[in-house]
Amino acid sequence: MEVQVTNTQTLIEVCRVEELQDGDFKSFNYNYDGYAYEGVVINYRNNLYAYLNICPHAGIPLDTSQEGLFNADGSYLICRKHWALFEPTTGKCVSGPCPIAPLLKFDIQEIEGVIFVSPKM
Ligand code: FES
Repeated sequence: MEVQVTNTQTLIEVCRVEELQDGDFKSFNYNYDGYAYEGVVINYRNNLYAYLNICPHAGIPLDTSQEGLFNADGSYLICRKHWALFEPTTGKCVSGPCPIAPLLKFDIQEIEGVIFVSPKM
């Protein structure tokens, strides 16, 4: 569900808070300026963060289909194409081929137990 908050801010409803336990993630789709994008909300150590699901190295999504977004010990987000690691709290790349380019972070809100994201490009 898309909720227009102001002329410039759109909130995307992602899921209920209890659906995301520590280490979980949830993808969501949205349109911006006529293009379709995928974002992701993660629960990292019981705090929620949201990012555009595009690795800044080659512009492809981090893998959300098989092994998940976190590395083996759950301390970083990982792009499995070339093994870049990103801080879950900031999106900063700490290892791999894109050290100066972070994941694009979105604002996130909880309203009556529902997670909303304000995406951008
Ligand atoms: S595409 Fe993500 S590290 Fe290369």
